[in-house]
Amino acid sequence: MKAIILCAGKGTRLRPLTYTSAKHLIPIANKPVLFYGIEAIRDCGIKDIGLIIGETGEDIKEEIGNGAKWGVNISYIEQKEALGLAHAVVMARDFLGGDKFLMYLGDNLLKNGVKPYIRKCKEGDYNAFVLLTKVDNPRQFGIAELEDGKVVRVVEKPQKPASNLALIGVYLFDKNVHLAIDSIKPSARGELEITDAIQWLIDNGYKVGAEVIKGWWKDTGKPEDILEANRLILEDMERDISEAMVDESSQILGRVKIGKSTEIINSKILGPVIIGNKVRVIDSYIGPFTSLSDGVEIKKSEIEYSVVIEETKIENIRGRMQRCLIGKDVRIYHSKDLPLVYEFILGDHSKVGLL
Ligand code: UTP
Repeated sequence: MKAIILCAGKGTRLRPLTYTSAKHLIPIANKPVLFYGIEAIRDCGIKDIGLIIGETGEDIKEEIGNGAKWGVNISYIEQKEALGLAHAVVMARDFLGGDKFLMYLGDNLLKNGVKPYIRKCKEGDYNAFVLLTKVDNPRQFGIAELEDGKVVRVVEKPQKPASNLALIGVYLFDKNVHLAIDSIKPSARGELEITDAIQWLIDNGYKVGAEVIKGWWKDTGKPEDILEANRLILEDMERDISEAMVDESSQILGRVKIGKSTEIINSKILGPVIIGNKVRVIDSYIGPFTSLSDGVEIKKSEIEYSVVIEETKIENIRGRMQRCLIGKDVRIYHSKDLPLVYEFILGDHSKVGLL
């Protein structure tokens, strides 16, 4: 069995971060989202992975390489225009040949990975297999209707949902999906939809199975999803501050993980929190569910439930920061000189909430 991971989308809902980098490389608990997907696939024993890349492909190639780090072989497949999930499968046809394959959306995260679910698919000899999760707001998802454990209908964002079982971003297919994709037309939004291909398989007598996953699933497409995914991963993290340089006036409470060459001076850290390498925290408070990447500096400030990416410096901020997703090499500081004014240099689609 092979796998493809889809990373060719534009990531518009994560602007401005996605103007300069792929959303798949945004760190969750200091590890790029995409690493979790590669690990989940590797844990299934799958060795050949095709990464579907678009505009941000070069960044992804640089970060992931040939997959040796994970003991897998990574091939890169270009999808120049993000014309839908089923269109990505068309682009991967040469790579996939007639093999069965796992399709994984590169911005998805599952607590238990995917290994527990692919056995049932293999045993049941299905032509397609989908993973489902119960949701509170089924009108916003692709929803599956089941009968005797088999999928009988999939509907994108139904007005009157027949179930609360949403399709998550992990699918298994055999070669018949190619026939299905060749038979469907682009949807109203101009994309080749994978749900339409699945419905075609059902309508033409192919066997489509499903399993409801245990544990959480998160699609990290929006800033609030990144913060929540970060919280969920940090919930399971163990304490390890053995490499940190912590002075006597600092307090580190609970499950806190700190990298190498990091200094904590006169500060309080209340876990779960992860702090990378070469970080400086001075006269500050770092509260629960916060991730600080390598090279970050926090001085005389308070922050919680936030993700701060590499080399960013935050200094002298009066109010406590919360629910922040801050990109690379950003400066946030308190003006010392007169006139005391707000001074912003912000990219398009930035968002600032002031006290
Ligand atoms: P999304 O539906 O979240 O789209 O894609 P997007 O373009 O990434 O984000 P927005 O809507 O502009 O904010 C789900 C996953 O499928 C990939 C995306 O990269 C993401 O990992 N994808 C989507 C493709 O690889 N190709 C496509 O044609 C569409």
